[in-house]
Amino acid sequence: MLEALSVVDHMRLPPEGAGTVRAFSRIGYDLPAALADLIDNSIDAGASRVEITFFRDDHDINAVTIADDGRGMDADELRVGMQFAGKTTHRQSDLGTYGMGLKSASFSQCSTLTVVSRRNQSTIASRWSAEEIDVDWRCAVLDPTGAKAVFDDLCMKGHQPACGTLVIWERLDRLGVSADPDALNEFLSTALPRLNAHLGLVFHRYLQQGALAISVAVRHSQRSLALPRNVRPINPFGYQTSGAADYPKTLVCALPNVGTIELQAHIWPENVLTESFNLGGKRGAECQGFYFYRNNRLIQAGGWNGVFKNEHDAELCLARIAVDLPPGGIDVNVQKSALQVTAAQAQAFIRASDGGMDLPRYAEQAKEVYRAARRRVSDAADPVLVPSLGLPYGVRNAAERRLSKGGPTEKITFVWEPLEEGKVFELDPIEARIMLNREYRRAILGDAPASAADAPLFKMLLFLVVRNEFGRSRSSKKQQERLQLINELLMDVVKSR
Ligand SMILES: Nc1ncnc2c1ncn2[C@@H]1O[C@H](COP(=O)(O)OP(=O)(O)OP(=O)(O)O)[C@@H](O)[C@H]1O
Ligand SMILES: [Mg+2]
Repeated sequence: MLEALSVVDHMRLPPEGAGTVRAFSRIGYDLPAALADLIDNSIDAGASRVEITFFRDDHDINAVTIADDGRGMDADELRVGMQFAGKTTHRQSDLGTYGMGLKSASFSQCSTLTVVSRRNQSTIASRWSAEEIDVDWRCAVLDPTGAKAVFDDLCMKGHQPACGTLVIWERLDRLGVSADPDALNEFLSTALPRLNAHLGLVFHRYLQQGALAISVAVRHSQRSLALPRNVRPINPFGYQTSGAADYPKTLVCALPNVGTIELQAHIWPENVLTESFNLGGKRGAECQGFYFYRNNRLIQAGGWNGVFKNEHDAELCLARIAVDLPPGGIDVNVQKSALQVTAAQAQAFIRASDGGMDLPRYAEQAKEVYRAARRRVSDAADPVLVPSLGLPYGVRNAAERRLSKGGPTEKITFVWEPLEEGKVFELDPIEARIMLNREYRRAILGDAPASAADAPLFKMLLFLVVRNEFGRSRSSKKQQERLQLINELLMDVVKSR
């Protein structure tokens, strides 16, 4: 029947430029994943150092640069490198595959992408802008003299490499916040720790081996350069003592389309509150599952890829499995943040075994370690209240250590919310929160910038004053009066500012 469909003509249908760029901005990259994709390119270019700089004024982030000391590009390489899905040749040990990362990651965050590259004392530059892509995919070739000046100015000033590449993102629509200067400070105060944690995790093997150093800096147009912060490695298997004897165990698995691979099955010890366990602020239960590496770069951090039904089973929170993938065979999504495992491959994972023990049995052992620890804890005592989100990470951890002494805890968080006029704070025992009146935030902060962990002294003292009120099951008249009095005393201070 289909023979009736004969060709009568052809029409040329290149992709529509603006639509393509719009699609990239929705592809699902967040800022840390997009920057990680550019660092992949730097690693493939043999870089030992990557510097990320956010250029800001009081209201906006105006540019982000990613500078590396890799081998740089000549004119031909830059041309192919700028091309969407350009045909680049890769070694098996490279992190790049599709010829897309530079463009897709960049246009997920910005509308103008400039690449300046230096090799053999020659500096060249090219630029894509969303509008020029729309005008027949026109990529600008930039003046080499200007390219040299920009490279000299922005690529690792002070310890400039002989060759390297500088990627510049401008018109960062996705990073736009409201004109309120506090909003930008608040955004940066949460975005930068998230970025550091993500890069520290994804590249932890490179950072630990000293093969790569990554730094992040924020440069304010009217102030002196803030010191770059080095990204610290976060090893998701970085515990001191295993949670169970004889672990980690190696399970072997025959994976369809891939071949034989090894799974390193670990059981974390209970009650460890390090960055390695919560991966920079997540709940432990969210971090269970597979950690897939390709060429030492972490592709996927946790998740069971359909092998177990419940992705966040609280009882499996100590179970993590490291897998080093051979090249090819399993598809990685474009953002390089997850593996696309087929149903047959998921089945094969379940059958992975060390000869005596298979994956479900391993999961059962990990659960048993967790349950035994819970039993020990619940025999011991009622939970101790500890101050939590809303305070700086280190302060939270120290407070938990000091107050809980390893026992069970209930975490009290701080949030700025609109509250009734005249109330500085309110307790929310159901959600275990101390709500602070957003209206008085400026008065409480004084000149300090607003951030997710602002006013730590005020929050800590308030926690100490009111923590006993959380424990009471029903609010008594006496308790109401006490909280009212504290509110009034604080309100006097707020009004006097
Ligand atoms: N920092 C860099 N240093 C040197 N060459 C680079 C750099 N960034 C990009 N390139 C060149 O541009 C090419 C295209 O990069 P792009 O990230 O778009 O694709 P890829 O790395 O080949 O594959 P993938 O889509 O998987 O990332 C690279 O293959 C490389 O040749
Ligand atoms: Mg790439």
